[in-house]
Amino acid sequence: MARQSHRIGILGSGNIFGRYVTGLARYPELEIVRVGDIDPARAKQAATDHDIPAWGDDAELYADASVDIIVNLTPPVHHARTIITALESGKHVYVEKPLATTVEEGRAVLEAAARSGRILGSAPDTFLGSASQTARKAIDDGLIGAPIGASAFIGHSKAETWHPDPRFLFQPGGGPVMDMGPYYVAILVNCLGPIQAISAASRIGAPHRPVTSPGRAVDSIEVTVPTHTAAVLTFASGVLGTAQMSFDVWDSDLPFMEIYGTEGTLSLGNPNHFDGEVRLRRHGDASWSVLEPVVGLFGAVGTKEQARRGLGVRDLADAIEGGPHRATGSFAFHVLEALCAVEESSQQTRVVHLSSTCERPQPRYPA
Ligand SMILES: NC(=O)c1ccc[n+]([C@@H]2O[C@H](COP(=O)([O-])OP(=O)(O)OC[C@H]3O[C@@H](n4cnc5c(N)ncnc54)[C@H](O)[C@@H]3O)[C@@H](O)[C@H]2O)c1
Repeated sequence: MARQSHRIGILGSGNIFGRYVTGLARYPELEIVRVGDIDPARAKQAATDHDIPAWGDDAELYADASVDIIVNLTPPVHHARTIITALESGKHVYVEKPLATTVEEGRAVLEAAARSGRILGSAPDTFLGSASQTARKAIDDGLIGAPIGASAFIGHSKAETWHPDPRFLFQPGGGPVMDMGPYYVAILVNCLGPIQAISAASRIGAPHRPVTSPGRAVDSIEVTVPTHTAAVLTFASGVLGTAQMSFDVWDSDLPFMEIYGTEGTLSLGNPNHFDGEVRLRRHGDASWSVLEPVVGLFGAVGTKEQARRGLGVRDLADAIEGGPHRATGSFAFHVLEALCAVEESSQQTRVVHLSSTCERPQPRYPA
């Protein structure tokens, strides 16, 4: 069936912008027609670099009647306000992670989406990739028996060595919990269902960090958000997860993520990637076996294909066309609430119970 075409406007033309342009090029029916940025000079440069026909400030993007989807790539502290403005301008919105920086903002965003009649989608979308889908099918097919536990290990993304302006990653709204946590928690919720309660402890590793990235905007950062966190996640199903989320672990040999059941263990690759080996070892097996991917791959692990973005925007377009919507605003809200609960539990040294729940998104593999 021929797909409808959609006209995309991208809001925010910073570091991740190019990876959306190259990733969205996989879907010719999703045409990028305008770039908007509070800094119009950046929008102009980005549009010129990528042959995008129109550019301007943020207001010009909201006002462009020919745009039906805004892809919001602003820093997290701007997400709530910009999502709401875009929805109120009549656009469908896909926003980078995290959905917002607080539970209150997240609720306001969901309410604005409901009022607007437009559709809100949100990153992360890597849980739609072959690795997470393969792990989920393995669990649903009973290959590890009844799930009991999970562990996630988030090491440092080393952003101060490659991001030209990593300040937002070391301020409230950033940190390993809000910046990297969404990928891991989204995959755990996709595989194991919603989270009920969280307890955690956190600290700041080093209060100041040198920035060494090429073309850097600053030479050092003052760190004002915890950079090392240990959390326990209690899922509604009774599964217990442990997560270490850190910008202080530069090197480690621990796996990214494992899921444990009564009959075996699943081991997953980097949740920030779409593809990667999913390994199974059932009790008594002499070695690990690699599971056959249940959906198509973007490309090999270690290639730029894993860093490109756009699958979540295609998912939003499916929903606009009346198909299933998986990377929804409400799924992202549950993930956000879990991550905020990690921060709240650390600050208040108590167990935090989540107010939201969510359905596991419909799988991408054939029923
Ligand atoms: N950089 C990455 O590797 C990466 C990876 C995955 C996800 N993300 C997510 O993508 C988003 C953007 O990250 P980034 O690294 O590209 O940030 P960035 O700081 O490099 O770029 C942000 C851009 O948004 C513009 N902007 C700021 N406020 C705005 C507003 N109110 N309206 C319009 N434009 C505005 C800025 O001028 C800038 O051009 C964040 O949510 C981040 O979590 C980034």
